[in-house]
Amino acid sequence: MEWPGAVPQNEDMTASVLSLIAIDGPSGVGKSTTAKRVAARLGWQYLDTGAMYRAAALAIHRAGVELTDRPALERVLSRLDLSLNEGRTYLAGGDVSEAIRSQEVTRLVTPVSADVRVREVLVDQQRRIGASGRWVVDGRDIGTVVFTQACCKVFLTASPEARAQRRFLELQAKGQSPDFDAVLADLQRRDLADSTRAASPLRKAEDAVELDSSGMSLDQVVDWIVARHQAHA
Ligand code: DC
Repeated sequence: MEWPGAVPQNEDMTASVLSLIAIDGPSGVGKSTTAKRVAARLGWQYLDTGAMYRAAALAIHRAGVELTDRPALERVLSRLDLSLNEGRTYLAGGDVSEAIRSQEVTRLVTPVSADVRVREVLVDQQRRIGASGRWVVDGRDIGTVVFTQACCKVFLTASPEARAQRRFLELQAKGQSPDFDAVLADLQRRDLADSTRAASPLRKAEDAVELDSSGMSLDQVVDWIVARHQAHA
């Protein structure tokens, strides 16, 4: 995916409704899988903003920079060469799709995504991407901050236990032997960090519709979002 050159003005961005479905919600709720499937059903493009924060965390880590060293952080951000293409994530042209899913990056991304300056840079890139075309975008602040003028906003939730159970089964399917309580504790740590940070905390936009997917299958969630979008299109 190429970043378009012109940065849209904020006034223009808020003036019009965008062909953009915003899916926000906590970790492990299945936003990415859902958003990808909704995009495929509608023939729209999919943007994974979590992958962008993960790639930024990896770039900062590789550069050996601490978030407290503001001039060094600024240098890394000014050279951040991040791109997404066909579901893969690239840093300076190198494919980092697997590296950004490591446990280490999952740990490092929490403070990185709470950094105001990192968010400014990535939100700017996200707005450039979403300004043209039709998009399904998932994240934590898509409906509240990044695309407040999205035509459809969904706040996807599920109980921590239901999310931990899904994650537990995913890890088992990968041949790992996860500990359920550790998986649950990690999700709860991320929930707390995402919802209590000062910069763009996770919360439902006033005009978003909340969907509790605890007892629903992936197909049911996708059908529900597509139907809701079509009813309001
Ligand atoms: O959805 P994910 O687990 O890949 O997200 C990685 C991290 O980035 C997670 O700590 C939440 C954060 N994030 C964010 O703050 N804002 C977004 N729009 C997307 C993700």
